[in-house]
Amino acid sequence: MNIQLFLTVNGIKNTLEPIPGETLSTLLRERLRLTGTKIGCDEAECGACTVLVDGEPVDSCIYPAERADGKTIVTIEGLAALTPNPSPAGRGGLHPLQEVFVEHGAVQCGFCIPGQIMTAYALLERNPNPTRDEIRFALKDTLCRCAGYPAIENSILAAAESLRTGESVRKPKIPDSIHVHKSVGHTHLRPDGVEKVNGKAIYTDDLVFDGMLYAKVRRAMVPHAFLKSLDISKAKVLKGVVAVLTADDIPGEHNHGLVIYDWPVMVGVGERVRYVGDAIAIVAAETQQIAEQASALIEAEFDLQPVITNPVQARQEGIPQIHEKGNLLKHIKVRKGDVEQGFAESDVILEHTFHTPIYEHAFIEPECSIAVPQVTVTSAKHPRSEAEREEVTVTSRMEIYVGSQIPYQDRTQVARAMGWDESRVRIVGQLMGGGFGGKEDVMGQIHVAMLANVTQRPVKLLFDRHESLLVHPKRHATQIRVKIGAKKNGRIVACESELYGDTGAYASLGEKVMTRATTHSAGPYDIEHVRADCYAMYTNNPPAGAFRGFGVTQSAFAVESMMDMLAETLNIEPVELRRMNALHVGSITNTGQLLRESVGLMECIDRVDAEMRKHNPHPFKPVVVSSALSGATAGRVGGARPPYRDQGSEVEAQVADDTRASSAGFDAKRLNPPLSATDGHLVRAWGFAAGYKNTGLGGGAPDKAGAEVELYDNGTFEVRSSSAEMGQGLVSVMQMIVAEEMAVPPAQVRVLVMDTDLTPNGGPTTASRQTYVTGNASRYAAKTLRDAITATMAEKYDVKPEQIRFENGIVHANGYSMTYAEVAKEMKSMGQQPRAVYEYEAPKTQPLGTGGDMHFAFSFGVQAAEVEVNKLTGEVRVLKVISANDVGMAVNPLGLQGQVEGGVMMGLGNALTEEFIMDNGYVVTDHLARYRIPGIMLTPEITSIIVEHPTAEGPYGAKGVGEICSIPTTPAITNAIYNAVGVRVDKLPVDQEMIAREIWEREGL
Ligand code: FES
Ligand code: FES
Repeated sequence: MNIQLFLTVNGIKNTLEPIPGETLSTLLRERLRLTGTKIGCDEAECGACTVLVDGEPVDSCIYPAERADGKTIVTIEGLAALTPNPSPAGRGGLHPLQEVFVEHGAVQCGFCIPGQIMTAYALLERNPNPTRDEIRFALKDTLCRCAGYPAIENSILAAAESLRTGESVRKPKIPDSIHVHKSVGHTHLRPDGVEKVNGKAIYTDDLVFDGMLYAKVRRAMVPHAFLKSLDISKAKVLKGVVAVLTADDIPGEHNHGLVIYDWPVMVGVGERVRYVGDAIAIVAAETQQIAEQASALIEAEFDLQPVITNPVQARQEGIPQIHEKGNLLKHIKVRKGDVEQGFAESDVILEHTFHTPIYEHAFIEPECSIAVPQVTVTSAKHPRSEAEREEVTVTSRMEIYVGSQIPYQDRTQVARAMGWDESRVRIVGQLMGGGFGGKEDVMGQIHVAMLANVTQRPVKLLFDRHESLLVHPKRHATQIRVKIGAKKNGRIVACESELYGDTGAYASLGEKVMTRATTHSAGPYDIEHVRADCYAMYTNNPPAGAFRGFGVTQSAFAVESMMDMLAETLNIEPVELRRMNALHVGSITNTGQLLRESVGLMECIDRVDAEMRKHNPHPFKPVVVSSALSGATAGRVGGARPPYRDQGSEVEAQVADDTRASSAGFDAKRLNPPLSATDGHLVRAWGFAAGYKNTGLGGGAPDKAGAEVELYDNGTFEVRSSSAEMGQGLVSVMQMIVAEEMAVPPAQVRVLVMDTDLTPNGGPTTASRQTYVTGNASRYAAKTLRDAITATMAEKYDVKPEQIRFENGIVHANGYSMTYAEVAKEMKSMGQQPRAVYEYEAPKTQPLGTGGDMHFAFSFGVQAAEVEVNKLTGEVRVLKVISANDVGMAVNPLGLQGQVEGGVMMGLGNALTEEFIMDNGYVVTDHLARYRIPGIMLTPEITSIIVEHPTAEGPYGAKGVGEICSIPTTPAITNAIYNAVGVRVDKLPVDQEMIAREIWEREGL
């Protein structure tokens, strides 16, 4: 090994002592504090850590630091300095690549962005004019879970053009809302965009505190057992270990949970282990390596128990009970009309069972928590009584830095476990590198609080990817049986479903998620007779909880598949069948709710249908691609090369003639010609699916959010709420709404979120609720402040309040006017504080089973997907997706575009590539490489259609979009597969071997 390392990093020469085994990412992040380089996996899988070494992009997480000796390194922090001279006119201080990523909305959570930009930079250096194909190939190993791949691709093209021509970067063309206001409804750049492209954005793992210790959790690593003994003695005496704690050291409540407190902070001796991720001890040490060594020295003995692996098994007689109250978390029932009568009246009855696996959120930023103890000593002299005395008060608090979707819930759970009053805990929310529902449950927060309290030093607990996969709640695996009855004319009269949901070892949000799966299990249709029963069951798998779609993703797959099966049986076009049964204003939902407004489902159906038929007037007939022109196996899932978006120009599709599919009417039984009748083995077809999703908590739960708006002396505003920003763009929404209400440009409004000391409680960031509830809270807080300003001005100038006007950042009062800076001073001089807090409470809802409004709003979505299936191999690729979403009103069309594209990609992964695999309670998917989230190569052409049927109570008419845009994707794809090759997928993800086998058996090959 060299005596010293010489590296030039971002133009600065460094001489460093080599550390055996050190990676380049560790050197950059920990020794040079260049934290713009992110760590998503530490296994060369995600590309977040990409930096340039002598101009070549490398995964710095596996690149030995020693190998960088004598080389030139560029990180995201050094990119702006490489802006050519003269620089294209644009956003000051950014390289054009960084600028376009902001302008085109390619930045969401931002965690992958440094890696994307560095990879793109290397591409443009060697190829200043890349094609889309070349961009995709260059970025094929750089994953984005927010999946803004189309925006990333467009950004790189725009940057390349700007760099070639010296012109300003081309802006995206995104239409405004049809309900546009001064600020809301226009495309707006996210306020945190610049720091996410220049490497300055700070996520929890980027923080360092003086004297910080490093934690490691010892996990049970057995799925079901009693902990017989635990010996921490060897770990305690290891040099560098500062604390080892067990369940005996939990100061307060031993269990935590979001709804039900059934999840042990640590499992104690004699207690039951319910899944491999259960904690049995925690360690704090001077370094991460020592903490890991100590954890490995902890000895545990287990009395192994039979493992319950699925929810159907969990409900059987005689099966061991995982929890004292049994294996049933909740039996959820939906009843409407008389389902037996409905089936008796039906001309056609179909019944089928569907299965969906466990899915993983795979956010690129693994979980990290840091606890920092705060001790404040105050003294007060008391007047002489018997003797003068000084009273000293010691206040001990804990600050916890974490990316959390529910900061106030974290505070409650930490305080309970510590046995403290909640006021002693402060959650300081950090930027999140994606959440998607996976950062709602407490992960390391309580453990770091315990260790920091005992050691009185800051403690960091960072999950590696393996631990993240092992521990946090997943999407519920389900078994869903659907029975559907309809008249010959296509009118559906009865729907019965039976659902089993695998909620894993602990409740998390399992009851809520499976309730949503059940209430939405008959789809967005107006059906007179509905019965649904769901059994949310405990098993010995990792807990299942919130995940984008919140149970509706699973039930939509089942019911939308059934809709196509019914369409085929009735010989009615799938779109027409949906039109005939679609929910509309005046419909009564399955739970007895009258829809009084804001039901844009029919418009979504019509617009997707029209767009789809522009590509093919007979979209559900198979289109056989000429083998001579097909381009071989390019781009299929599992194939050697990716699908390229512009391949349509290279590949001529040939529509099957009328001997194979009737052009006069839909004839699904004639869709699948024998293989010998085709001249190619690649077949294309479209599939169609619809969905709906509630906005907000619903079911009778109070749904509140607080926000505070303050006017500062310099005339700027700040809006504050604890609601979480995890990449979805809430900060833009809050900023735009306050700007709208105060009649100022958005740049005049700052946003502070996720801090339980400084921001009012915005509630959980879940159920697509934040635009609606925190949007409204921000709006009404701004209105309240405006009213206060109005009163001040009216009094000062002795005019009526109606004469006060707010325009272009100036407050006018009947001939007088004031800037906001002057208003702030004026209010203070009158003894008023220029700020206002508002707690917004959404319209009341009813619990399931009581009828009435179970939810205060619903979003609706429809998607059509075109797939190409290889009949010889069963490989599938998605070519195009058209997605229409009724979002009420598009507050920020740019942010909406990113949500829609990301939602489609997540749905595509759900259909084709993703599955979290368990084996008898043990995790097989223990590395990111074993969980295939779709990369840029699999990105189809995505057309987003925004439908705006405003809801009266939503801010400017807006309702949720975060989930609906992902829900119909999977059934649209699986229906398309059926239309192409006649194989019905009833088990996810799509098994290509099964497709090929069925075709081969059917064709007699
Ligand atoms: S590839 Fe290096 S952190 Fe994922
Ligand atoms: S922006 Fe790419 S992972 Fe979130």
